[in-house]
Amino acid sequence: MTAKLIKGTEIREEILKEIEEEVKQIKEKHGAVPGLVTILVGENPASVSYVTLKIKTAKRVGFKEVQENLPENVSEEELLAMIDKYNKDDSIHGILVQLPLPKHIDEKKVLYAIDPDKDVDAFHPVNVGRLVIGEPKFLPCTPAGIQEMIVRAGVPTDGAEVVVVGRSNIVGKPIAIMMMQKGRGANATVTVCHTGTKDLEFHCKRADILIVAAGRPGLVKAEWIKPGACVIDVGVNRVGISEKTGKPILKGDVDFDKAKEIAGWITPVPGGVGPMTITMLMKNTLNSLKYKLGLL
Ligand code: GUN
Repeated sequence: MTAKLIKGTEIREEILKEIEEEVKQIKEKHGAVPGLVTILVGENPASVSYVTLKIKTAKRVGFKEVQENLPENVSEEELLAMIDKYNKDDSIHGILVQLPLPKHIDEKKVLYAIDPDKDVDAFHPVNVGRLVIGEPKFLPCTPAGIQEMIVRAGVPTDGAEVVVVGRSNIVGKPIAIMMMQKGRGANATVTVCHTGTKDLEFHCKRADILIVAAGRPGLVKAEWIKPGACVIDVGVNRVGISEKTGKPILKGDVDFDKAKEIAGWITPVPGGVGPMTITMLMKNTLNSLKYKLGLL
């Protein structure tokens, strides 16, 4: 069997077009556009490239984009004051503080200072709680992207066995909660595996939908995949530098080349889940404005 590729790059284009269209309509009817502020502290190269892409995407879909670049040695107090300013700014609907932050700043204190109704990353405990009780306001971006890929690829989820490998707060835990809720692209039976799991192979082999977010290149072997299963590979592991391009070589958590011969659907790395995260950040920012206007 050769698996159907679920391409994040293509689904991203579909969703961004939908967002762009909705932004135009809301602007015409209500005279408002979604506003996103990105706050970057320091010059970590990976963070700079993520934020640059977030800004570019926000502009492309017609958002108001405010870019705040703070020096590495900014005080926690100054950063908190900036968050407070944007919490009160009616033209801003989403506040994004790029992580990681320098060591002298308490990351939790900063994330918890963001108004939960502008928390488009959905990292604030209020949004985590809303998700757990089945009343989410914003879905965390990477899990939201995963669910959207599953839905748009037409993978059946109702009653499916979903196995999640990884228990991080930003991917493993929230995607497990989302897939177990009632509703679209969910209503599944969910198992969460992690470094304490005794027999990972046993659990992976049971999965109709296998979601791997462990951060370990090639962890999941092709023989562990149930024929016809949907495999979502969240791993983005830098395994070297290409001699040709000088760019990092990326590898997922799943042995892709062999797994694609067994799975029914599979996401590539790169070009799979990766492009979905920023896309869903845009969706959350649009939704934040829609909540404010009473459209959601
Ligand atoms: N750093 C790496 N990924 C993310 C993300 O999704 N959101 C934020 N705020 N920082 C990140």
